This record gives sequence, structure tokens and C-alpha cells, in this order.
Amino acid sequence: MDLIFTLLVFISLAAALWFRRALKRGPGLKLPPGPLPLPIFGNIFSLGRKPHQSLARLAQIHGPIMLLKLGSRSTVVISSPESARAVLQKQDQAFCNRSTPDAIRALRHDTHSVAWMPVGDQWRTIRRLCKDKMFSGQRLDAGGGVRMEKLKKLVGHVDQCCESGRAVDVGKAAFTTSLNLMWASLFSADAAEIGSHSSGEFRDIVSGIMELIGKPNLSDFFPILRAVDPQGILKSNTAYFEKCFAVFDEIIDRRVEMKSAGDRTVWNDILEALLEFYREDQSGLTLEHVKHLLLDLFVAGSDTTSSTVEWAMTELIRNPDKMQKAKHELRTVLSLDQLVQESDISQLPYLRSIVKETFRLHPTVPLLVPRRATEDTKFNGYIIPKNAQIMINAWAIGRDTSVWQDADKFLPERFLDKDIDFRGQHFELIPFGGGRRICVGMPLAHRMIHMMLASLVKDYEWKLEEGIMEVGMEEKFGLTLQKAIPLRIVPNKV
Ligand code: HEM
Repeated sequence: MDLIFTLLVFISLAAALWFRRALKRGPGLKLPPGPLPLPIFGNIFSLGRKPHQSLARLAQIHGPIMLLKLGSRSTVVISSPESARAVLQKQDQAFCNRSTPDAIRALRHDTHSVAWMPVGDQWRTIRRLCKDKMFSGQRLDAGGGVRMEKLKKLVGHVDQCCESGRAVDVGKAAFTTSLNLMWASLFSADAAEIGSHSSGEFRDIVSGIMELIGKPNLSDFFPILRAVDPQGILKSNTAYFEKCFAVFDEIIDRRVEMKSAGDRTVWNDILEALLEFYREDQSGLTLEHVKHLLLDLFVAGSDTTSSTVEWAMTELIRNPDKMQKAKHELRTVLSLDQLVQESDISQLPYLRSIVKETFRLHPTVPLLVPRRATEDTKFNGYIIPKNAQIMINAWAIGRDTSVWQDADKFLPERFLDKDIDFRGQHFELIPFGGGRRICVGMPLAHRMIHMMLASLVKDYEWKLEEGIMEVGMEEKFGLTLQKAIPLRIVPNKV
């Protein structure tokens, strides 16, 4: 037994040394430090059920630029603002492409989706289209009225719960609202009625896709297994994507048919902007690209915004003095029963600070969306091997005690007198990433989150359901960081 154990230790050490040597490139350059990998599996077992937390702990030992071996894949984990700046800004060119999870190969999403395709002419065309035709201030202002209608539904749902004394499942209600806000922006229509069966169905599709993309997949650790798809992740994701595409096909066909039948409705939505661009542009954008982009927006836009709202409300319930301050600010700017408008956000500095503080403690995409080194790259005195996956641990950066005072406390006030925002210039707060691949939907997310939160805070007092003594703070890891126990609270109209 002892002999077998000694042999195993010897083989592990020899493999680890070989791995380090084999990857060493050029004189004087070394690989980043990291935990010793086991043979074959590397450091997979160090990830645990909450990889963002395990990686934060490992970074305290090995430093902010750390190399792990996840199966056969080299992975560099970045855990400080300075090194995040180097990846996202200074050496953005070297790290701007994505490391694509196998789940994303479903229906060739990896080659058609703006979120995953490599940086090139096609990616630039679609990014420009998003920036100018969908998420510019002017375009967003034009869609403000439709979004307002959807917010009234959220308020109506909370009012009903007030009357009946029922609890609001904040994540669910915010998700349905996000979905409706997204759907309204995309198609000028409603995806789901709050509380209806189909709302649950869409929530399941989006959450399912997010969970599959975030789930540890043997095919990602050992690409040789891709053909087998051992956990069935690619198969399940293909089924989800097919469901979405069937809905998109129907909507697009209906719109095209209406146009050819001479319908003169002026559509002020993203689908119209996309179809217009598709008809007029010569850059080779196909209907396939349009559908994959709709899928990107639909998936990236709903779950992310709703979970931010749920975490923000969770923190406010735990910190009643902050809730009162936010309410006071809202009532100073707006009268009772007056609905918040998007143009009010600029007058609500405390509300904006709450959102920043929520992003700091609960970044919705904790490891951001993984990047990849396109070439062997010199980086801060190290060599990052070609095709290494780069993960930026925004969760660890947000809780770093050398960056933030009282890092584990929810203190929105810290942002009131500081010029720090989350638009990719301040690398201590990067929930939307940074550089050329920064989240393209950030301007819409900004409006949706502030509006939902303001609507929930302004005219209601909230309390926990009877029998519940405290709010659960447990996290559930996926591509997005969800609450393990949903926040259910009972509203009372003020
Ligand atoms: C709380 C809300 C959101 C968060 C925290 C978030 C976060 C992120 C992050 C971290 C990235 C990767 C950035 C990088 O690699 O540097 C990203 C990319 C992206 N996001 Fe968001 N996002 C949110 C909302 C939205 C919304 C509302 C949309 C669209 C409707 C959207 C669409 C996208 C797209 C298309 C990309 C890919 C961009 C590219 O690769 O070029 N996101 N997002």
C-alpha cells in the first residue's frame, strides 16, 4: 500500500514538473504559480461546488495570476484589479477571444453568436449594430414607454400581494419582468404574464441554458471526449436552443408576412432594427446570425438583471437602515404613487450606490465570460501559453480586503463620494467585464435594474414570511450567481 502511495506521489510530482517544463517558453520566462496538478485530472477537484470561492482561496496562497490545469486545459485565474486591467485593457488584443464551452457548440452557436465568435469583421459588424441600433441612448429612450408598461405589471403584481398578504418571490417576479422588458425591447410584445404557466417555462429555458453553460463539463476538461458528450450537456442545450429558435422563427415569419401583406405598422423594436440591417447591409449578416443574436440577448439579458435585483433586495432586507435611506431618497425626488421614470435615475445617487455595492458583493457573472490567449503571451513577467483559458474572478476582486475597507459589509455609502463606476474603467468593479468585449447590453441592464429596484423600494415596506427568522445568503454557482434560497418577502403598501 505504502509503495503504491509513494509511486502515485512520485508520478504526480513528475507529471507536474513535466507539465511546467513542457509549457515553459523562452529564456527567463516562467509560467504563473499555482497548485500542483494531479496527473490526468489536474486541479479539477480543487474547484468544488463554488469555484469562485475556491479560486479566491487558492489565489490567497498562489497570488493574483495563478495557473491551474483543469483536465487537459491550462487555465489562468486573475484575481486583482491590476492584473484584470492588464488582461482587459493593456493586453486586450491578446486576450479578446473567448474560450468556448462545449455547451455553446449547440446549433453552431459558437460560430454565429456575437458573445462567442472570435473578434473579426463579422463580430465588429454585429457589435456596431448593437451599439448604434439597439443600445444607443436615443434608441433606448424611444423604447422607454414600452418598458414602463412592463414595470406597471410588476407594481400591479406587488399590489395584489399587498392586498392578499401573500409573499412576493422577488427573483421570480424580477425575472418575469426582465423577460417582459427584454421581450418588449426585442419584439414589442409580452413574453409572459406574471404568475402564468408560460412565464415559468421561459424562466426554465433561460435558467437551464445558464446552468448548462456554467456546469463543469468533462468535454471541456478533456476535449477528446467531445464526440461522446458524456454528461449530455451539449444534447440538452441543443434542445433548449431549438425551443427558442422555434419561437423566433414564428415571430420573424409573422413580421415578414405582415410586411409583405402591406401592413404599415411602425415597429420601434430591436427585431425591426435587425431586419432592416439584414435587408440593407452588404456585410453578409444572415437570418441565422439574427436568430443567434436574439438568443444571445434573450439569454444574457434576463437572468443577469433579475438576479442582481434579487441580491440588491436581499441586502436591503438585511440592512433596514439602507432600505429607509433609499426610500427617503426616492420620496424626495418623487411623490407617493408617482412611478419612477428612467430619466429619474440620474437624480438618485443613493440608489445607484446600492446597485454598485450589490455588483461588488454579488457580481452576477462571478468569473466573467472566459477569454482565451490567442498566442503564447508575455504577461506581467510570466508566459501565458497559447489557448490557455483566462478567467477573471470578479467575485474575489470585489471582496479583496486590500482593495476595499470593510470588504464583507454592505455599505453603499462607500460609493457616494468616489468616482467609481462599473463601465469598465475601474478595474476593482467589473461586473460587465471590460475592453472591446465589454457587455454590449450594459446600457439596457443599467436602466432595467435601477427601475425595477426603485419600483420595489419606493412605496412598500417589506418583511420576511412568517416563521422565517433570517434571509439566506447561500450562493448557487452557474455562469450567473443565483441565490440558493429564493428571497420571499411580504409587501405592505406605505
Ligand atoms: C446585470 C446584467 C448583466 C451583467 C452583469 C452582464 C455581464 C456581462 C459580462 C461579464 C460579459 C463579458 C464581458 C467581457 O468579456 O469582458 C457580458 C457580455 C455580453 N453581454 Fe452582458 N451582462 C448583463 C446584461 C446584459 C444584457 C441586458 C444584454 C443584452 C440585452 C447583454 C448582452 C451581452 C452580450 C451580447 C455579450 C457579449 C459581448 C461580446 O462578447 O462581444 N448583457 N455581459
